Amino acid sequence: MIEATGLTKRYGAYRALDRVSFEVRRGEVVGFLGPNGAGKSTTMRILTCYLSATSGSVKVHGYDVFDEPLAVREKIGYLPQRAQMYGEMGVLEYLRFVADVRGIDVTSFNKRMRNIVEVCGLGTVLGKDIRQLSHGYRQRVGLGQALIHNPPILILDEPTSDLDPNEKAEVIEYIKEIGKDRTVILSTHNLAEVEEACARAIIISKGRVVADGAIDEVRARGGRVRYQVLVDEKAALRGTAPSSADVEAALAKIQGAISVKELPTDDRCHGFTLLGNKGSDLRGEIFKLCVDKGWVLLEMRRDIQKLEDVFKSLTKGDEVADRLRTAAPDEDEESEDEGLEDDESEDEESDASEDEESDDDADEKDSKKEDA
Ligand SMILES: Nc1ncnc2c1ncn2[C@@H]1O[C@H](COP(=O)(O)OP(=O)(O)OP(=O)(O)O)[C@@H](O)[C@H]1O
Ligand SMILES: [Mg+2]
Repeated sequence: MIEATGLTKRYGAYRALDRVSFEVRRGEVVGFLGPNGAGKSTTMRILTCYLSATSGSVKVHGYDVFDEPLAVREKIGYLPQRAQMYGEMGVLEYLRFVADVRGIDVTSFNKRMRNIVEVCGLGTVLGKDIRQLSHGYRQRVGLGQALIHNPPILILDEPTSDLDPNEKAEVIEYIKEIGKDRTVILSTHNLAEVEEACARAIIISKGRVVADGAIDEVRARGGRVRYQVLVDEKAALRGTAPSSADVEAALAKIQGAISVKELPTDDRCHGFTLLGNKGSDLRGEIFKLCVDKGWVLLEMRRDIQKLEDVFKSLTKGDEVADRLRTAAPDEDEESEDEGLEDDESEDEESDASEDEESDDDADEKDSKKEDA
C-alpha cells in the first residue's frame, strides 16, 4: 500500500531524512517511532503530498506522490500533528465542509457520518462548536475528518500527544477499531501505544530507519533477556536465610549471566534483575541454584527486552548536530516543489517550502562529480 524508497529530505544544509525506505502492506497497523526531531512528521508529510522529498520516491496505493498527488490524496486520510481546525465551526458543519472539499455528495456524506459518529465516538458533540471541545474530542473530530472519504490508508501523526491518559486510551481504542479494515501508519514516540495498537514498528533515528519489523522481532533486536528474581530474605528451606550479597554473588556466577542488578524491594525479599543473552533461558539454572542453597524463590520472571529499551539503545544521541552537512557552496541546488501543489499546506508547511533549497539526490551528484 505504501512503498517509500530512498527518501531524503534536506532543509537547507540540514538532512532531516536520509535514504529512508520502507513498505507498508495492506491491512497493517504500523507504529512509526522516533524521538523528537527524528523525521517522523517530515516522512508523514511526504507520504501525504504536503511536502516534496529532496530525492527518493513514494508510491501510495500504486500512485506516485509526486506525479499523481490527487489520486494519492483520495486514498489517504491524514491527521497532521497539531492539526488546525476552524474553532468557530460546529462539529457537523466542519465535517460537512471537509466532505464538500473532497467532493462527497450529501447522500454519501450522511451515510459515512453514521459510521464516523460511531467509530470516533462523536455522538454527543455533533452540535457543539469545535472551540468548545476538549483536546481529546478535537482529536476525535480530526480522526473523523480523516475518515470522511472512507480511505483505505490512514496516516496519523502523533494523534495522542498532549492528551491525558484516559483520553489517550480512548483515542487508541478508536484507532484499533479503525485499523481493523484499513492500513494505518501511527507516528508516535509513545511506546506503550505502539505495543498496544500495532503489530509492526518502524523506528527512525537521525532521519534513518534503524529498525523495521514485527514488534517482537524489534524487541528482540536488543539482544538481551531479562530475568527478575525475588528470594525470601526471612526464611530458608535449610539453614539461615541468605543476605542480599549472597544472592547477588550466586546469581552472578550462573553461566550466561551478563550482569546482576539489585531491585528496590520491601523487607521480605531480595530482588535482582539478571541480564542474559538473547535466546538464552537461565530459569532452570536459577531455580536449581535456589534449591541447592535451600533458598525460597518467591518469584521469577523472564522478559524479552522491553520495546522501550530497544528504542533507547537504537536512538541514543539523536542530535541535530549529527545531521548538519558541511555543504560546499556549489552543492546547493535549485528550488523545488514544482510538481506538488501547496494548496492545502499549513503555515509550517509554507515555512518548510521556503526553507527548502535542494532537490537533487546527493548520490546522483556524487556520481556526476565522479563522471566529471
Ligand atoms: N521547515 C523546516 N525547516 C527546517 N528544519 C525543519 C523544518 N521542519 C522540520 N525541520 C527539522 O527536521 C527535523 C525533523 O523534523 P520532524 O518534524 O520531521 O521530526 P519529528 O520526528 O516529527 O519530531 P517530533 O516528535 O518533535 O514531532 C527536526 O530537526 C526539525 O527541526
Ligand atoms: Mg512530528
